Amino acid sequence: MPDTGRHYLAIPGPSVMPDAVLQAMHRPAPNIYTGEIHDITRSLVPDLCAVARTAGHVAMYIGNGHAMWEASLTNVLSRGDKVLALVNGRFGEGWANVADALGAQVQRIDFGLCAAPDPARVQQALAADTAQSIKAVTVTHVDTATSALADVSAIRQAMDAAGHPALLMVDCVASLACDRFEMDAWGVDVAISASQKGLMTPPGMGFIFCNDRARRAGATANCRTPYWDWAPRIDADEVYRYFDGTSPTHHIFALRKALDMIHDEGIEQVWARHDLFARAYWAAFDAWGQGGSMRINMTDPATRSRAVTTLRLDPPQGTALREWLIDKAGVTLGIGLGMVPPGDPAADGYFRVAHMGHVNMNMVMGVIGAMDAGMKALGIAHGERAADAAAQVMASA
Ligand SMILES: Cc1ncc(COP(=O)(O)O)c(C=O)c1O
Repeated sequence: MPDTGRHYLAIPGPSVMPDAVLQAMHRPAPNIYTGEIHDITRSLVPDLCAVARTAGHVAMYIGNGHAMWEASLTNVLSRGDKVLALVNGRFGEGWANVADALGAQVQRIDFGLCAAPDPARVQQALAADTAQSIKAVTVTHVDTATSALADVSAIRQAMDAAGHPALLMVDCVASLACDRFEMDAWGVDVAISASQKGLMTPPGMGFIFCNDRARRAGATANCRTPYWDWAPRIDADEVYRYFDGTSPTHHIFALRKALDMIHDEGIEQVWARHDLFARAYWAAFDAWGQGGSMRINMTDPATRSRAVTTLRLDPPQGTALREWLIDKAGVTLGIGLGMVPPGDPAADGYFRVAHMGHVNMNMVMGVIGAMDAGMKALGIAHGERAADAAAQVMASA
């Protein structure tokens, strides 16, 4: 790894943390009984809800995305309840597995690894549930393994068209503050997220957003446990209650700063920036693909995340390029995840480029230049003028 310059961790979380976020944590432990930490914690609630575009509630936790999978399900499910899990990558499957472990009856719809969930199939599955016993539909807004983007609004419309009362639960771990997400306008009942991606804060905090409908539906859920229970956290008025114990003080300082930055930029502009950088990357990937094996996993741009892109080269070139970038260029890209069965050498074709969070144009263009150099150095066949294609997109903004 080069010693000069700043290494760029371009993986889909943890994402790059702004210096201002890091500096916000560089202070002594605060008095947790009174004062500033209470005010700051309270102030996170409306600002997190604004990022998720909800007038509903947020429960904050010490925990990561996996913790939020479990926490969210325990708040709405009783053992034996039915869940319809939409799966199109490792993360959708991960959430479904948690529901299995909690004793739910999980019906999966598998859309494969190169497609977004098809709302028509969701409508069909719900219409077939004539007893309306399915309690919740789980959707991964961005499956970080495949980089597929779900059309959450269309899934809600499909649920309504089936006349089904199930809760719509959405995993926004990878998408929040990257891809447009409109919790209330899209009719989402429960959304989960975590601190380490679009929120530009260290891993370790998780969030559940919910509306009153979800709170009512979960009021008698027998999977509830004292620690994951969202009610005391939502209804809290002092910092010990928000976190059911000692609060993550320095994460709170960091998150406060990150939310200020998101607010100052404006959430619409945050989404527009992610859209621009994603399109610039895709133009470069397509240009390379003209003269070689590089392919974007999600062929239809309408089904692609603006936070991360999953790519494929002929194996083992994906891994070779990733390793070259770490060694020579000071860039770490994401590994491929769950695209082939464990042990299959084809895994070495897949890798992921993250474009989430605290990213600017020169970071994107730098990664494109470094990838180009890596392919040349390794003799990986590729088309030319990728940086030019990306620059055209950047210039059109
Ligand atoms: C969409 C999605 N859901 C859930 C998770 C799990 O989050 P964590 O690694 O914080 O447990 C991830 C992590 O990358 C993710 O991308």
